[in-house]
Amino acid sequence: MNELTAPADTGAALRLRQRVARAFARQARHYDAHAGLQRDVADALLTLLPPLTAAHRVLDLGCGTGYLARGVQGRAAAEMFALDLALPMLQQTACQPARYPPPGLVCADAEALPLATACCDLVVSSLAMQWCPRPQRLLAELARVLRPGGNALLTTLGPATLQELRSAWQRSGGLERHNRFESVERLQELAAQAGLEGTVGSRRLQRYYTDWQALMAELRGLGATTRTDSGPVGLARRDRLRAVASAFDTRRGPQGVAVTWEVITLQLRKH
Ligand SMILES: C[S@@+](CC[C@H](N)C(=O)[O-])C[C@H]1O[C@@H](n2cnc3c(N)ncnc32)[C@H](O)[C@@H]1O
Repeated sequence: MNELTAPADTGAALRLRQRVARAFARQARHYDAHAGLQRDVADALLTLLPPLTAAHRVLDLGCGTGYLARGVQGRAAAEMFALDLALPMLQQTACQPARYPPPGLVCADAEALPLATACCDLVVSSLAMQWCPRPQRLLAELARVLRPGGNALLTTLGPATLQELRSAWQRSGGLERHNRFESVERLQELAAQAGLEGTVGSRRLQRYYTDWQALMAELRGLGATTRTDSGPVGLARRDRLRAVASAFDTRRGPQGVAVTWEVITLQLRKH
């Protein structure tokens, strides 16, 4: 998605945020059971953490059930804050076994942080940024709350994600019904505009699904079902869905249907 397809900052943007929050809120108690990819991506991000001490303050944006925040706490004694748009996600974060002091919980929009300027040493975020219709706002807010010299480590999804699903929609002659994602180049440009320097890189992961139903069950189980651009919303006709499922399933090999997830990692530093 880009600025041209993002909804204007009006009632439409507010309704979109509410739809995203509701979808994740509904699935908060079931999220972890479907979050295999999210765990792998967060674990990879944790290997990139800079050295931290108890004097550092870290913010996890779009924390979900708090896996990444706990991972940071497991590696460093830093003061931790976890922020999410969906209150039930924060409730899940709060009720995890307390091996570490519970993070400070903040229910807010990552594009409008209720935090003081220059209050954080590090911002982490895993697979939440793609749910924010204006990544430039998120990056500007992130740059604002970072102290000069502070770091940000983020992952998001790139345009090749779910390309097999897109192709199944195209082959069945229907309008696509899944989200589009920002490219490495665009994110690099937006980070620079926000006053953040560093590297943006991507890698492709392949995961196998028994069939289209299994992929849909995972996306529904995560709460990852909201359309964030201006494409069609609502249910497609039943016969259209059958055609898409069958176009998708024709790719099935011995391990199932291979599906691409392009994971983009941003390693940034505030000037
Ligand atoms: C796919 S989950 C990732 C959760 C967690 N970071 C993980 O790796 O398991 C995306 C999370 O981002 C949150 N989210 C979506 N849009 C947001 C926004 N604008 N501000 C803050 N959180 C948001 C959702 O509520 C959800 O918990």
